[in-house]
Amino acid sequence: MDYQHFLRSRRSIRRFKPEPVPASLLETLLTTAIHAPSAHNLQPWRFVVMQSPQSREQLANGIAERYQYDMQKEGAPEEDIQGRVDRTHRRIQDAPVVILLCRDIIDVKQSPSLRGQQAETTLATQSVALAGLQLLQAAHAAGLSGAWVCWPLFTGHKIQTVLKLPRSWEPQAMFFIGYADEEPQPKDLKSIDQVVKYL
Ligand SMILES: Cc1cc2nc3c(=O)[nH]c(=O)nc-3n(C[C@H](O)[C@H](O)[C@H](O)COP(=O)(O)O)c2cc1C
Repeated sequence: MDYQHFLRSRRSIRRFKPEPVPASLLETLLTTAIHAPSAHNLQPWRFVVMQSPQSREQLANGIAERYQYDMQKEGAPEEDIQGRVDRTHRRIQDAPVVILLCRDIIDVKQSPSLRGQQAETTLATQSVALAGLQLLQAAHAAGLSGAWVCWPLFTGHKIQTVLKLPRSWEPQAMFFIGYADEEPQPKDLKSIDQVVKYL
């Protein structure tokens, strides 16, 4: 497969075989991820790897409690709330590996102006996202699959507390990684003309 085709063939996978991911392979993926480019080369990404059922239970409890609280405040029906809680636990426990991706605000460049500071914070977020994509592509290259899951962005403080993370590690996303146990549906891709303008 040529490299362009390889990059295009990565897909999000959400169902995995129970087969574990060897620790050395995981280390390879993470090492590739930290080679991503970053603004000012500050490398603001941090990864929390959760393989044990206990750590994943803590994560699932934290996320589910936060969602439960928010949904109750919004007046969501009890069965919707319970469905969300159950799905959170099931998906987190079923993935062979869960990796939380954080942005360390210690590695956000300081700027004297508010506008400058907002831009620097965005630069750090963009850098963290690149490491996330690099992780997904590294998994793909190793015959593994994964999915980017955004729940931690909505439940950050709670996750920091239950996992006892440093306060500067701000959860941005998490990844489920493992050996695929589903075929992705064909993707509805916007055409190149819709998204590119040549001037
Ligand atoms: C920033 C971001 C957030 C995402 N959040 C979720 C999510 O919470 N749950 C999920 O199942 N997939 C999530 N995805 C995966 C997208 O649904 C997926 O990338 C998109 O549908 C395109 O499919 P593909 O990855 O197979 O090309 C997210 C992807 C990105 C980039």
